[in-house]
Amino acid sequence: MKLQEVVAVVTGGASGIGETVAKYFASQGARVMIGDVAQESIDRVTSEIAARGGTVAGLKTDVTKDADVAALMDAAVAKFGAINVVVPCAGIIRDGVMINTDKETGKVKRVMESDQFRSVIEVNLIGSFITLREAARRMVDHKWQGVLFTISSVNKVGQVGQINYSSTKAAVAIWPRILAGEFQMKGIKGIRVMSIAPGYVGTPMVKGMNQEALAEILKDVHIARLIEPEEIARAIAMVVENEAFDGTCLEITGGVTYGARSIAK
Ligand SMILES: NC(=O)c1ccc[n+]([C@@H]2O[C@H](COP(=O)([O-])OP(=O)(O)OC[C@H]3O[C@@H](n4cnc5c(N)ncnc54)[C@H](O)[C@@H]3O)[C@@H](O)[C@H]2O)c1
Repeated sequence: MKLQEVVAVVTGGASGIGETVAKYFASQGARVMIGDVAQESIDRVTSEIAARGGTVAGLKTDVTKDADVAALMDAAVAKFGAINVVVPCAGIIRDGVMINTDKETGKVKRVMESDQFRSVIEVNLIGSFITLREAARRMVDHKWQGVLFTISSVNKVGQVGQINYSSTKAAVAIWPRILAGEFQMKGIKGIRVMSIAPGYVGTPMVKGMNQEALAEILKDVHIARLIEPEEIARAIAMVVENEAFDGTCLEITGGVTYGARSIAK
């Protein structure tokens, strides 16, 4: 499958990894439909892509809403005639520990509220589910071939301070095995399912964080730098173009080696 033949739907396509995936795919000749909650950013990204001669459209979409996602998929079909590649990059973090204690008394000072947990599940997990389902039902009915992705994270192993986020990233990492299996069971051919688990990527969010904390994190990364969003986009493109990638999770971490430093000491 060549990029110039595909219609790609990218949620969260108005910022960070999603924006770069949309731009890279468009630069390689794919037709790209962007869904995001941020209308101004959609307008910026779609005009930047169009200015470089890319084929793109955007629609304001909240991935937690079934009707919004259905409308996004219908818009992709109406505009570009098919859906082949789906990259659900819409995601949020709401970090915090479950139990926070007072330094003096050792007693519980604050807890992670249910809404702080639920909001991340809603976008990262349920949003990804709705996105893949609404794409797949159209792809199966029309026999359109392609790849459904999930965006996991190196933090799928369980990151302290991220019980909500890590739970979603662990979950979506196992979906390829489940969905490729279900498709095989039902005789659905030509729709592969892959998860991408990036390490620390230089999106505005990560570049804007406390630089000392970032330097500490990078001490655990073998290549000793942030991954560029385009390196993730190129890996996603490689998966699309190579049919051997299916039913598993591909880690792109630059060699995150948690613990290696403490063992060496
Ligand atoms: N940046 C990293 O280091 C990194 C590492 C691993 C995984 N990831 C994952 O990659 C994905 C993108 O991360 P990013 O760093 O590019 O983040 P980002 O904040 O730059 O972009 C996320 C986009 O999602 C959109 N969004 C948020 N809620 C939405 C909703 N309900 N409906 C539709 N759109 C919504 C935002 O408007 C934004 O445009 C996330 O799933 C994140 O967990 C990022």
